[in-house]
Amino acid sequence: MIAAEKLARADAGAIARAGEILRRGGLVAFPTETVYGLGANARDDTAIAGIFAAKGRPRFNPLIVHVRDLKDAESYGKFSDMARELAAAFWPGPLTLVVPRKRDCALSLLVSAGLDTVAMRVPAHPVAKALLAEAKVPIAAPSANPSGKLSATRACDVAEGLGEHVDLILDGSDCSVGIESTVIGFESDHAVLLRPGAIAREELEPITGTLRAADKTHIAAPGMLESHYAPRAALRLNARQAQNGEALLAFGSGAPAMALNLSNSGNLREAAANLFSMLRKLDASGTQTIAVMPIPNEGLGEAINDRLARAAATRAP
Ligand code: TXA
Ligand code: MG
Repeated sequence: MIAAEKLARADAGAIARAGEILRRGGLVAFPTETVYGLGANARDDTAIAGIFAAKGRPRFNPLIVHVRDLKDAESYGKFSDMARELAAAFWPGPLTLVVPRKRDCALSLLVSAGLDTVAMRVPAHPVAKALLAEAKVPIAAPSANPSGKLSATRACDVAEGLGEHVDLILDGSDCSVGIESTVIGFESDHAVLLRPGAIAREELEPITGTLRAADKTHIAAPGMLESHYAPRAALRLNARQAQNGEALLAFGSGAPAMALNLSNSGNLREAAANLFSMLRKLDASGTQTIAVMPIPNEGLGEAINDRLARAAATRAP
């Protein structure tokens, strides 16, 4: 249980209090359209160090900085024409752009974890927007879950995982997209898909051309860590049905009626929105293994399969 005063419905009063906490160097969890974020003032080294400590996050894993608009973003990072075009098309929204830091960039070096780039996005969720306006500082925010665990799409999930470490959790109801932003970087003139996410490759490629895969040897983009998003239970992927003792996470209309189903109609958007909360629910049931039915690898399916593969990966003990 966490102290009741740490959890607040995201009304104007609570958002004002949250802005004050951020300016003072505290930690505020808040909803975005993708997942809940664990936010701190992106200009404040001590506050950013607090994020790494609260999550138990490896220091080499850089953070996404949330800003109000492209103009704000361009005061910190260098935008190529393609980066600007992507921002114009998808901001506010679940697209993160990794761009070179400007020489006079006022953001904490810790958000970049030693890289000379910075990841930024303009969130679309009304609470996130109101918080940015109220705080008047850029907000660094990784997903609000202990490092390596399932992301949080509900305020109660944040409270369970990080409650003792945050100063305030703004409860802004469930996240509508449910899967993290797509992260795009640039190598010379080419766009690189650093993390598949809420905006599908098919929507981006008209602007970027064919997206390249990330070169794992040179970018420490740790959503790329092999084991991540891990529930307690083991995962068995591409299962047609549950075997003895397994709990089934179904997809589509051909599934047994009793099973928890990511989307009965086979809708990938609905499946993405349900992914983390359903994995949490099955995990909480105490099952040893969650058997997951196959998900088509198109549209949001690429991001869903990415998270499932990492959740299934062998973990360090
Ligand atoms: O939807 C989202 O993106 C959520 C909400 C809260 O905005 N945030 C989120 O943050 O998912 P996080 O920290 O869980 O994931 C950030 C991803 C990581 O894979 C990280 O390695 C990558 O972005 N990243 C951040 N800065 C980077 C950089 N400078 N270069 C390469 N990758 C970077
Ligand atoms: Mg995360």
